[in-house]
Amino acid sequence: MASSLKKYVVTGGAGFIGSALVRTLLQRVQTGGGSVTVIDNLLTGNAANLEEVRDNVEWHKLDIRDADSLAPAMAGADTVFHLAAIPSVPRSIDDPIPSHSVNIDGTFNVLRAAQLAKVRRVVYAASSSAYGDTEVLPKSEGMLPQPLSPYAVQKLVGEQYAAAFSKCYGLETVALRFFNVYGPRQDPSSAYSGVLSLFMRHLLAGTRPQIFGDGEQSRDFTYVEDVAELCWKASQATGVSGKMYNGGNGGCYTLNEIWALLQRMEGVELPATYGEPRAGDVRASMADTVAAKRYLGHDPQVSIEDGLKRTLEWYRGQTANTP
Ligand code: UD1
Repeated sequence: MASSLKKYVVTGGAGFIGSALVRTLLQRVQTGGGSVTVIDNLLTGNAANLEEVRDNVEWHKLDIRDADSLAPAMAGADTVFHLAAIPSVPRSIDDPIPSHSVNIDGTFNVLRAAQLAKVRRVVYAASSSAYGDTEVLPKSEGMLPQPLSPYAVQKLVGEQYAAAFSKCYGLETVALRFFNVYGPRQDPSSAYSGVLSLFMRHLLAGTRPQIFGDGEQSRDFTYVEDVAELCWKASQATGVSGKMYNGGNGGCYTLNEIWALLQRMEGVELPATYGEPRAGDVRASMADTVAAKRYLGHDPQVSIEDGLKRTLEWYRGQTANTP
């Protein structure tokens, strides 16, 4: 018998986006009641991301590739937010087997465990990379997917698995194609890190970033708290099961524009160096937000200037705290 106090599970809850979602959910349960459970194996996540909220969540250190281990964490859950993944387009090209098994087999395991546990809904973190290079912008949900990398294929398969679970087993699912999420707690320590986290690191260190290609590739950079709020809305909306929506901001900035903006914000001149374009890279990216606004109530609040400012301040604080 499910309790009326809802249990929310976040796979990848110690990750960059997952930990922001955990904070959003904790605010919700503070007023509405309920509990938050985190599943994370700390492969790409980091326990420090949950530092001050650690005592308020139930933690299961699990790998989603281990199907049998998932049942206890899922038991009694109302909603599962499935964010656990090995991200990065280039990582999926350099080392495709782990990203394949986590992003496809792991996603299947999460959906299956949710179905068996009679979870009401799974919200799945899909990716804008599934669109590939489309002829027109913005990219809207009806466009044919044209994945350019293993990562893009994996995320698309997960989305289609989610839809199939909705059709075949009555498990409610909603997939959100995230568009280049950025913000506090994005890990800048790897060559596979998101470009804005790397830009921030260079800006604060006074070093020049490397841009792959001519820097005229564009992205719809989306602030992490707006994404967390959208996940919540996707868990609550009615009449959306089995569907996919864009989780973007509707903006479009080239890397050259963003790096110029960051230099102006800091009052520095650090010209980027330019290298070969990256394999699997999408040239232009921008979300059509109409459907997400209409059906999920998506309402992104944070402008790029504001988001970059907040993010930069967070990285500055981290740098100041490093002995
Ligand atoms: C892609 C997806 C995004 C997904 C992410 C997961 C698209 C449009 N977006 O992001 O939805 O969440 O994978 O990892 O496919 N770059 C540099 N210098 C650097 C690092 C990156 O110039 O040091 C460039 C890349 O070549 C790319 C852009 O910055 O053109 C963004 O790269 P990155 O932050 O890795 O994200 P995407 O691959 O766009």
